[in-house]
Amino acid sequence: MTKRRARITGWGKYVPAKVLTNDDLAAMVDTSDEWITARTGIKERHVRTENDTTTSMAVQASLDALHVAGLNPEDLHLIIVANSSPDYLLPAPANFVQHALGASCPAFTIAAGCSGWVYALATAQQFIATGVYQNILVVGVEIISYALDYTDRTTCILFGDAAAAVIVQPSLDGEGVLAFELGSDGSQAHHLWVPGGGTVNPVSQKVVDQREHYIRMNGQEVFKFAVRKLTTCLRNITAQAGLTLDDLDLIIPHQANLRIIEAAAKHLDLSMDKFFINLHKYGNTSAASIPLALVEAIEEGRIHPGDTVGMVAFGSGLSWAGAVLKMGMPVASVLTHNGHARANA
Ligand code: COA
Repeated sequence: MTKRRARITGWGKYVPAKVLTNDDLAAMVDTSDEWITARTGIKERHVRTENDTTTSMAVQASLDALHVAGLNPEDLHLIIVANSSPDYLLPAPANFVQHALGASCPAFTIAAGCSGWVYALATAQQFIATGVYQNILVVGVEIISYALDYTDRTTCILFGDAAAAVIVQPSLDGEGVLAFELGSDGSQAHHLWVPGGGTVNPVSQKVVDQREHYIRMNGQEVFKFAVRKLTTCLRNITAQAGLTLDDLDLIIPHQANLRIIEAAAKHLDLSMDKFFINLHKYGNTSAASIPLALVEAIEEGRIHPGDTVGMVAFGSGLSWAGAVLKMGMPVASVLTHNGHARANA
């Protein structure tokens, strides 16, 4: 029986206008452009303006994705939003995004840190494979800056805000999600977490005074985990797809730190040319990282019709998630109003 796969037919992104450079951060904490560039590869990141909310950013990216796919919000059968920085603790962002888009379909949120969007894509693949839904919006959005302690130089230099979205629709001709792997190791949760503000340690004066409502991270442990997972997950998903690493035309790694990607490339004996990198412009945008890189790879003509793309995310949880996709859309020949390539042209 021919397998129904989730194929990407639309894509869009939204990046806030405000830019925070390494020099800007050096004016706030004891760091330097040289240190951040050498240790991470990041030069600048975007952070939300007063007009940006998690919902508004998700909606901007989603409208572009719908436009590229040639769909209207009312055509959507499901919305999945990957997010760990919601506008409100309740309800989760997907409901706000559904309402703001004017869609009337079910919507839910996946909170799996930086791995969230690949978890969401794998979830969408299930609804497509079973034939339950045809037109699914998969969004990754983060205003991670709200959870950053801008007095902590070990974390505030790494992250930025962004949104990116894709439309997936069924394909019966071998395009779409070929394989995926999802993973969790909760024993390492405390290496990347927000210790205050939840039910165990609710918001209080003490939580605020001790800055426990901000992200805490054990950078070296996360670094080792990231290199390990980027390497093993890429191997696992390509093997599961019946491919070798050489068969991948492009690899989209989570854009956390250039040194993590370089270390994985070395372990895998792959050229860095095979990896798409945009972290110098955005830093780590958490759940938006992989879709934002995917959208830019499409816009820059790094992905061609028929290409096979591998993607691996990792992050808080500690979690990881990878997928191999066969890209089906004609790329870049017909441009929409905003410069995006139109699918199915
Ligand atoms: N500017 C200047 N110095 C800094 C600094 C900064 N922004 N951050 C840390 N340092 C200092 C440390 O205090 C330490 O000083 P010391 O030797 O006097 O104690 C020194 O630099 C080395 O610190 P270390 O933690 O060993 O640096 P590193 O090479 O591991 O780089 C990270 C730190 C955070 C960049 C790196 O560990 C990392 O990227 N980890 C993964 C984080 C990540 O990707 N998280 C998200 C995953 S989704």
